[in-house]
Amino acid sequence: MTFELQSPLDMHIHLREGAMLKTVAPLSAGTFAGGVVMPNLVPPVDSLARLQAYREEVLAGVGDAVFEPYMTLFFRNYTREELEAARDHVIGIKLYPAGVTTNSEAGVAVLEEAEPTMAIMEELSIPLLVHGESGGFVMDREHEFLSVYEHIATRFPQLTIIMEHITTASALALLDRFEKLHATVTLHHLLVTLDDVAGGLLDPHLFCKPIPKRPEDRSALLAAALAAHPRLMFGSDSAPHPVDQKECCGCAAGVFTAPIAVQVLVELFEAHDRLDRLQDFISGNAQRIYGLHPPEKTVLLEKADFTVPARYGDVVPIKAGQTLSWSLSGS
Ligand code: NCD
Ligand code: ZN
Repeated sequence: MTFELQSPLDMHIHLREGAMLKTVAPLSAGTFAGGVVMPNLVPPVDSLARLQAYREEVLAGVGDAVFEPYMTLFFRNYTREELEAARDHVIGIKLYPAGVTTNSEAGVAVLEEAEPTMAIMEELSIPLLVHGESGGFVMDREHEFLSVYEHIATRFPQLTIIMEHITTASALALLDRFEKLHATVTLHHLLVTLDDVAGGLLDPHLFCKPIPKRPEDRSALLAAALAAHPRLMFGSDSAPHPVDQKECCGCAAGVFTAPIAVQVLVELFEAHDRLDRLQDFISGNAQRIYGLHPPEKTVLLEKADFTVPARYGDVVPIKAGQTLSWSLSGS
């Protein structure tokens, strides 16, 4: 049995830089036709010159593979001139509240002060991508941030807003209230809850931001993904960290899913008899929401066992050592 996907897109990925990029970029390009590349490098990607240099590094990293990097700038207060110049080179601007996740120290401390830039983005039709977490109790951070989304969506009704990597049923419910509000969801948040991270022996490879939530949250997200909810896109948030920064005290946040995300999604959608919805979830919705025309790329999978490697370079993937029921054709 085989299954084909056309131009799968990963609408939220961390490709890093240097040696790590050389390890992970070809893995994303192996199964995706394009991806939204996150700007949380050190220092962040917050100028057009740096973004263009980073795009070149990404393209060099993927080599001959067909893969379109959709670049993002790190949110700061930009001038109109900067935004006008950047407009044709970015898919959006990513806002991190200061300090909420990996490499977000340069993020926004006072959200009201971000509004002048948001107003220009609205005018220039530049989407706003948001890591939506408050500084509150870890399980409540996303829920607490929903009022910020409401505020931004009300104040800037023409601004396209993407709630990145949503983890709660309440974030999903907010989609119904604002026409220009959209969301990405990761693979791991469709698979795991806090129990899998910390309910038994601590699993550092599932530790990420936002922290996986309750079973009812996962169920709601899974139902929406399986239905290819029209405002929801797949975004892996694949976030590689070297093994010595995961298997240690002070474990870095991030789950590495890029090399097996497509295979596991096929397995998941097949298990729920919804394979017919996967194309929209993994590409169609993103194309419509962002107005993209991704490169043509056919990804062929076959129903054949595939054992996930223990490591890719020095990164441990999700499901390391486990056997999947689908593999990439020819792998
Ligand atoms: C991401 C990373 O490592 O860059 N980590 C994570 O846990 N998801 C940053 C992010 O998207 O929050
Ligand atoms: Zn991320």
